[in-house]
Amino acid sequence: AGGNFTSISALEPGQLRSLLDESHALKALYRPSAPSATPPPQPLAGTSVAMIFQKRSTRTRVSTETGVTMLGGHPLFLAPTDIQLGVNESVRDTASVLSRFNDVILARVGHTSTIEELCEHSTKPVINALCNKYHPLQTLADLMTLEEKWGRGGVDGRTISWVGDGNNIIHDLMVGGAMLGANVRVATPPGYECAPDVVERTREVLHGGRELKLTPDASVACEGADVIVTDTWVSMGEEDQYDQKVAEFAGYQVKESLYEKANPGALFMHCLPRHPEEVDDEVFYGDRSVVWQEAENRMWTVMSVVMAQRGKSVQ
Ligand code: CP
Ligand code: NVA
Repeated sequence: AGGNFTSISALEPGQLRSLLDESHALKALYRPSAPSATPPPQPLAGTSVAMIFQKRSTRTRVSTETGVTMLGGHPLFLAPTDIQLGVNESVRDTASVLSRFNDVILARVGHTSTIEELCEHSTKPVINALCNKYHPLQTLADLMTLEEKWGRGGVDGRTISWVGDGNNIIHDLMVGGAMLGANVRVATPPGYECAPDVVERTREVLHGGRELKLTPDASVACEGADVIVTDTWVSMGEEDQYDQKVAEFAGYQVKESLYEKANPGALFMHCLPRHPEEVDDEVFYGDRSVVWQEAENRMWTVMSVVMAQRGKSVQ
């Protein structure tokens, strides 16, 4: 509790477990349908969260603003045109100033080095709200969703399969899944493999005889899958590579035939925003898909991260 939240790799398994437990507890207490005789508590009253966004966002922005407000805190959305950062002021100076106003600094940035710089110069805890290499908030929501389907501890022994780019989303999911006892199977096109240090961290936290399989073959990755996960092939900032990547990712679209060797009832997840090239409508809008629940859980999980950084809990 209290520290920066920069990647799942940087967590210990026990910290991941605590954040997930708090997320489940928050959802049970605060969701509008939860039975409650008294108004729910406002443990973040007096807490202000600076939200720096150097890239677009629907889910991360709205879930954080809504969730922090629900807990009594004050989120400040700071888009590139709102503050001096990136135009007229350095990351270092921005971190030093915001630390004096705000209790938490959440940031969505281009390169992971910007998150590192914020951490270095902020005297308040930092949350990585996506960078080129990591998206740890998304992993919390993904694992929370899987636990809602399979029960607490239910990820243990399951198989998480990824088909697509070796990007920020799978980097955190492979480590988090391994921490919870999953097998992880990843198919990426040649040239788009996951970062070696993240693969190494995944191998470090794998336990109980579970395996990490890396392959260019989507159907091999989906053998024995309990959930197949993908993401856009063209991440924010890569728009100029669209034609090239769509050509190189041919054959990696998630569709029903990829579920042939998956386990019965295997699920589908996607962090969103989604494009039809990486998953067809039948799977995306079909019974396997848990994408809307996954999106909702972005709120309960970011709430748990801010709560932990402020040393609070509703459990
Ligand atoms: N999944 C996700 O981070 O979505 P946004 O880009 O809309 O925040
Ligand atoms: N890989 C995507 C995730 C968006 C939430 C991106 O970085 O743009």
